[in-house]
Amino acid sequence: MLSIVVLISGSGSNLRALLEACDNPLFPAKILAVGSDKAAAGLSHAEEFGVPAFVVEPELFDSREQWSQVLLRNVQYHNPDLVILAGFMKVLPEGFVSALSPKLINMHPSLLPAFPGAHAVRDALSAGESTTGATVHIVDSGVDTGPVLAQREIAIAPGIAESGLHEQIKTIERSLIVEVVSQIAEGKLNLSERAN
Ligand code: GRF
Repeated sequence: MLSIVVLISGSGSNLRALLEACDNPLFPAKILAVGSDKAAAGLSHAEEFGVPAFVVEPELFDSREQWSQVLLRNVQYHNPDLVILAGFMKVLPEGFVSALSPKLINMHPSLLPAFPGAHAVRDALSAGESTTGATVHIVDSGVDTGPVLAQREIAIAPGIAESGLHEQIKTIERSLIVEVVSQIAEGKLNLSERAN
């Protein structure tokens, strides 16, 4: 059984998809805890499923390094096999990444390497793309640059707004992350091999 800590900053719809998948006794993974950098709305999903949550706010620390070390200690307390950034909107310092690598993966709403960064959906629309999608990748020291594990593409409907397109992408992200977790748990996807 693959054990997971999920980190979020927002509504946590991807977290919820994972909680629902893990609620099935036949699914080969379980969520040990959910963490956040703020009192995120998505933490309510953890509460609903009886999963412990922790919040470590950067504003309470003198530096990013101190913040991320306390966040790391909270994650490591649970000793997970895998850590998933599911809409965690802070860039994590190198020390945090290297302590967990390659068992730290991120979800991103574009077909990386296209449109990294915090405005991936807006950037794909501004560039006039006809397709975009979702990516799950291993986190490395860059921003949205690590090895890609899985991607799914969708067409961009003419005239669609950023929020509508993001909702469409999140729909495919939810099934993609559940599929990736299942493949890691079943040994079909090997993070150490993919990291090299
Ligand atoms: C997702 O689009 C994810 O790729 C991005 O942030 C969004 C999180 O959505 N990094 P939610 O909080 O899971 O609903």
